Amino acid sequence: MAQFSSTFLDELIARSDLAELISRHVDLKQSGANLVGLCPFHNEKSPSFSVSVDKQMYYCFGCGKGGNAFRFLMEHDGYPFPEAVEFLAQKIGMPIPDSKPVNPREAARKKHGLALLDKVTGIFSRCLHAEENKKALNYFAQRKLSPAIIQKYQLGYAPAGYGFMKRCFAEDHNTLKSLEAIGVLIKNERGYADRFRERVIFPIRDKQGRVVGFGGRILDDGEPKYLNSPETEFYHKSHLLYGYSEHRESVRKHKMLVVVEGYMDVLAMASYDLDYAVAPLGTAITESQLRMILRLHDAPIFCFDGDNAGRKAAWRSIERMLPIIKSEYSPQFLYLPDGEDPDTLLQKEGQKAFENRLKNDARPMLETWIQGLKNIAGDGVEGRARMAKKADQMLSQVSDDYLRQAWQGEIEKVSEVKLSMQKQAQDLPKSRQYIARKPAQYLTVNPMKHDHFMAGLLQKPMRFQSLPEDAFDFFIDTHPIHPIYTRAFSLVGDNKSTELDIAAQLMREFPDNQHIARWVNLPTVEDDEFQLLLMDMHITYLNDLLGRSDGLAVKIQMNEELKTLRTQQKQLKKYLSDKESL
Ligand code: CTP
Ligand code: MN
Repeated sequence: MAQFSSTFLDELIARSDLAELISRHVDLKQSGANLVGLCPFHNEKSPSFSVSVDKQMYYCFGCGKGGNAFRFLMEHDGYPFPEAVEFLAQKIGMPIPDSKPVNPREAARKKHGLALLDKVTGIFSRCLHAEENKKALNYFAQRKLSPAIIQKYQLGYAPAGYGFMKRCFAEDHNTLKSLEAIGVLIKNERGYADRFRERVIFPIRDKQGRVVGFGGRILDDGEPKYLNSPETEFYHKSHLLYGYSEHRESVRKHKMLVVVEGYMDVLAMASYDLDYAVAPLGTAITESQLRMILRLHDAPIFCFDGDNAGRKAAWRSIERMLPIIKSEYSPQFLYLPDGEDPDTLLQKEGQKAFENRLKNDARPMLETWIQGLKNIAGDGVEGRARMAKKADQMLSQVSDDYLRQAWQGEIEKVSEVKLSMQKQAQDLPKSRQYIARKPAQYLTVNPMKHDHFMAGLLQKPMRFQSLPEDAFDFFIDTHPIHPIYTRAFSLVGDNKSTELDIAAQLMREFPDNQHIARWVNLPTVEDDEFQLLLMDMHITYLNDLLGRSDGLAVKIQMNEELKTLRTQQKQLKKYLSDKESL
């Protein structure tokens, strides 16, 4: 193990796709925050095997096996550790010290898949120019896409019928299976059929510029308007952006990045020489896509339709950005006129007018957020109170301390309400900083308190930062959780980048500890539930301490503290159950 540096191993885990690795053996389905399936380590009829995509760890609640990608490869596929590392590194193309291809067959399979995707791209592209498919080329012409754009983005066409792609390849079993694996063929009772039929095709590339999937648009008003590749080992729609690899250089050159909603918007902008747009792939933008965007450019402009749906989408992007936003970034938001997208606007008013909108009408994130808060909270004194409450709750997700404080100040100015985080910090000792957050559905008091408390912490390591001071001593020295727990504290303390993933780091330091993987795979511990657990832990701790201490003054003070805690706990519980029974 000593031969690999820890940063290398961390990065390797972070960049690997555990779900993909496991789904080659297990049929995984989304369940809550995690994926679940039948455990590959023991025989079972109902799924107790869980994969946390967020933390890149798996755990079986049936047999107790769990870990990260390395462990899976070792335990499931029998790799020795160094080979598991080499396998993963090769899979994602990360160079490693003294690497030699360990699993040439796996590498070859992947290479074959990518080559096939490339071939299919070429086939679709040639098809677009075939005489009998004139209507497809006409469609692009009607949408004002030039031959140069069609060529640069390798746009294509998938003809009608179910057997076109098969006819382009040898129809042997292996080829058909490979075409299915890359998402081009669908297998049904009658055999293999084309997924994309009678649609213009937009090839979608990964960061390295390799085609990994396709979007297909219908030529008329039929449904669905767009059909995209399914999730495959190459195509992960929530981690890809349309236009990313095509526009990376140009974004750097122009120092401009615009995030739009659709393929056609990206291409329309490119045909007006604005080749610095990217778009998510038909789903609401994800945190992973937001990270890609902010790494590429620190001041991206998010474009939305000015209608209700557009405002909602903008709000969702703001919510998703809170945990990753830093004071070094300045994202902007631009609302377009009702019912317009960049494509329709460019056709209507041309390049200059559109560029002027980007330059003059885009608003900073803070302003857009405040506007959104006002819309949600409504008018009047109570409106201002609701605004402060919601803002407070959202601010708690901002991990950049300075930005959070700056924004808090702005919200206080606008709402004329002192936010509770700050108020409590001033008025109460640190151990009493419990904030009753907006309730979710709270479960009854949990017998596995420790477990859920740890799960709550590792699922959202940010929570470590708001623990009361004496939380450090919640577990006595001999408690099995103690070493992990205290190590987690020091990791949070050391942590210079807020992105350090505590769970992954702990996993590496305690490779044989199965708890860590289980904690991150337990059902999501919501904020309210966590607040209650925290109070519970704190009360237990103080009770215990009280029993062990002498000295009247100390005891009186502890009793006071306990009383306050119990009252707060009662209030929060009542608040939650009231809310629940509404
Ligand atoms: N989309 C999708 N599936 C659909 C509809 C939309 O995946 N059934 C995705 C596509 O990536 C599309 C984006 O959502 O580019 C935006 O959709 P929409 O605004 O409906 O379409 P436009 O991009 O305006 O497409 P067009 O201009 O071709 O009508
Ligand atoms: Mn459009």
